[in-house]
Amino acid sequence: MSLGHRLRCCSALGSMVLIGLLFWNSSFVLISPPGVAQGPPDPLTILIWHWPFHRPMDLSGNVCLDRFGIGGCRLTGNRSDFPRAQVVVFHHKELREKGFEFPDTVRPLGQKWVWASLEPPTYMHKDVELNDLFNWTLSYRTDSDIFVPYGMLVPQPAKVPNLPNKTGQVSWVVSHYRKSQERAAFYSNLSHYLKVDIYGKANRRPLCPACLLPTVSRYRFYLALENSRHRDYITEKLWFNSFLSGSVPVVLGPPRENYERFVPADSFIHVSDFASPEHLARYLRTLSDERYRRYFRWRERQGVKIYSDWRERFCLICAAQPNLPRNKVYRDLHGWIWNRTRDDS
Ligand SMILES: *[C@@H]1O[C@H](CO)[C@@H](O)[C@H](O)[C@H]1NC(C)=O
Ligand SMILES: *[C@@H]1O[C@H](CO)[C@@H](O)[C@H](O)[C@H]1NC(C)=O
Ligand SMILES: *[C@@H]1O[C@H](CO)[C@@H](O)[C@H](O)[C@H]1NC(C)=O
Ligand SMILES: *[C@@H]1O[C@H](CO)[C@@H](O)[C@H](O)[C@H]1NC(C)=O
Ligand SMILES: *[C@@H]1O[C@H](CO)[C@@H](O)[C@H](O)[C@H]1NC(C)=O
Repeated sequence: MSLGHRLRCCSALGSMVLIGLLFWNSSFVLISPPGVAQGPPDPLTILIWHWPFHRPMDLSGNVCLDRFGIGGCRLTGNRSDFPRAQVVVFHHKELREKGFEFPDTVRPLGQKWVWASLEPPTYMHKDVELNDLFNWTLSYRTDSDIFVPYGMLVPQPAKVPNLPNKTGQVSWVVSHYRKSQERAAFYSNLSHYLKVDIYGKANRRPLCPACLLPTVSRYRFYLALENSRHRDYITEKLWFNSFLSGSVPVVLGPPRENYERFVPADSFIHVSDFASPEHLARYLRTLSDERYRRYFRWRERQGVKIYSDWRERFCLICAAQPNLPRNKVYRDLHGWIWNRTRDDS
């Protein structure tokens, strides 16, 4: 069979599957006999045992559906829902705080406990009871049960991207500057060869949340430097600060191949593309407008979706639920987090 033939065969098959699905959907509605409830199954009750960073959020109405378009979900922060909850979520940071307690009643049969954190292992407290407690993980790691990235690309109809006017070269917003971090060493070296405008608490030039995008967007490049390097750990520094502002990201984080799992190769500049910060500085200073604009081509096909609301992150448990493992236990969650071992229990 020729390749052309095979392609034809398979794309035809593809559209059949698509039509099949559409058809299945409509026939599903048509064949329900009147009077017989064919409505959606009972919503999944998810109890948020404590709010991340002690910031409670409004859960009134059908939050997941009304705000985020995710059905079949009921979020509650009321601990008396514990006996009814199918899922209970625990955010890592508060687990070691004084006064924290796990539920003291027996876990209802089948109830799943979710360990949730979007922090990298470098900045997570280790002296926490974690093993033999949780059934699912929720994190930025693609190998979590519930994968919750800081952002993702979504297909969008082609439109000509509007490049913001650029009056500056490079900016960086940083609130916690620590000399021991790799990004600090990188910056201090780079700054010998290139002027970087620094904003944020670390430089006593704080930016109000609404000021960040308009400020950063005036610069050609943005330093999207992660506080530590870990696989899949790609944060709002890329998704929000760079991509939403229309400033080309210069990234320091996991290897280029890892970024390319999530974003196009020509959407960012990786510090390891260059032999040294000096080489990188020269590239940034001498890049022509025409080549610069190539970093924006992907925007003709794709848009950016940001995940920043903890409620939406928890609603994603419902979206993932049909594919989640039924009888899983993280016997060694410590190892999973800090040593990236597999946990196949
Ligand atoms: C929590 O739920 C219980 C039992 O349903 C109810 O009596 C109580 O008022 C609720 N608490 C809050 C803060 O909504
Ligand atoms: C960008 O600059 C041009 C020319 O200076 C000006 O006409 C335009 O209004 C500016 N656009 C924005 C968004 O500031
Ligand atoms: C920057 O780092 C390079 C090695 O990557 C080194 O050769 C160079 O001397 C450093 N420059 C400064 C100013 O520290
Ligand atoms: C969830 O994990 C707990 C703690 O390890 C375990 O006892 C329980 O059987 C698991 N539940 C399910 C439904 O897999
Ligand atoms: C992780 O690996 C380090 C070094 O290889 C080891 O000392 C440590 O005990 C391991 N920790 C866990 C939780 O497996």
